[in-house]
Amino acid sequence: MPTSKEFQDRMLSLGLARVSEAAALASAKLIGRGDEKAADQAAVNAMREQLNLLDIAGVVVIGEGERDEAPMLYIGEEVGTGNGPGVDIALDPLEGTTLTAKDMPNALTVIAMGPRGSMLHAPDVYMDKLAIGPGFADGVVSLEMTPDERVRALAKAKGCAPSDITVCILERPRHEEMIGLVRGTGASIRLITDGDVAGVMHCAEPNTGIDMYMGAGGAPEGVLAAAALKCMGGQMFGRLLFRNDDERGRASKAGIRDFDKIYSRDEMVTEDVIFAATGVTGGTILPGVRREVGWMTTETLIMRSKTGSVRRINYRTPVAAV
Ligand code: FBP
Repeated sequence: MPTSKEFQDRMLSLGLARVSEAAALASAKLIGRGDEKAADQAAVNAMREQLNLLDIAGVVVIGEGERDEAPMLYIGEEVGTGNGPGVDIALDPLEGTTLTAKDMPNALTVIAMGPRGSMLHAPDVYMDKLAIGPGFADGVVSLEMTPDERVRALAKAKGCAPSDITVCILERPRHEEMIGLVRGTGASIRLITDGDVAGVMHCAEPNTGIDMYMGAGGAPEGVLAAAALKCMGGQMFGRLLFRNDDERGRASKAGIRDFDKIYSRDEMVTEDVIFAATGVTGGTILPGVRREVGWMTTETLIMRSKTGSVRRINYRTPVAAV
């Protein structure tokens, strides 16, 4: 029998779903209203309130920012009732603030939980990311390869032509060269405007049509995506990118010593974790919050890496209760 101090991932996963649902319901009221900050704040408030009801001694390791810049869910904030297992929490109450404000696809609320010390304390810098789905030999693609080499290597491993591969990339000027190299192989690219946690998850979810994710995005989102892939299967690699000494300083403060290290999925998330995500705006992985007169409905994905189990929970609630 587990003692109350052990990470009770089975029970906690259901609590985590409630936390994720609450954030989605709160931000749903702000879908399409053109106000990123208000949508984010609503999700943060709701997520924090629900987290504090859980019987855990939680510490936020990936959160809304450092203590001096984020009043709530900041890195190092203690959450939960304090009665229960010591856990690390990585969260993004609203992944895709602009997607929500503009009512564009694939905005999610995201949270992962694991035993203390199980997740990389990634500072708020960029991370160069590369991900593929399950079923391939270890290291079939790597961050050391050029983007075109990655496409050719994955195509060979899949037994198809590079033109049969689809790569997901954030549409940013910094990715222009990468996009050119990938297109040069004949591969197709799904460009996304935001939301690379969902972008990475697309590689491991059947029927999304995405084979590989690559490019630079937020490092905190990188750890969350690694937690998702640890549950879903698939490979992911990340290397922190620093633009100045301030960012290197943030990394040192977070305990990072080797600034050039390439982290594998299991180096970003070292132990079994649980992961929950709720759709805010409709997307390929999750439908968005459905609003009808008097009611709101959410769909939440809950995954446990220990068992590989994936649940989808539909929750319908009267609007008055939100
Ligand atoms: P927000 O939800 O905080 O707006 O982040 C969205 C996002 O697209 C992430 O998914 C991604 O990792 C990051 O922003 C990319 O950063 P940038 O917009 O600076 O390229």
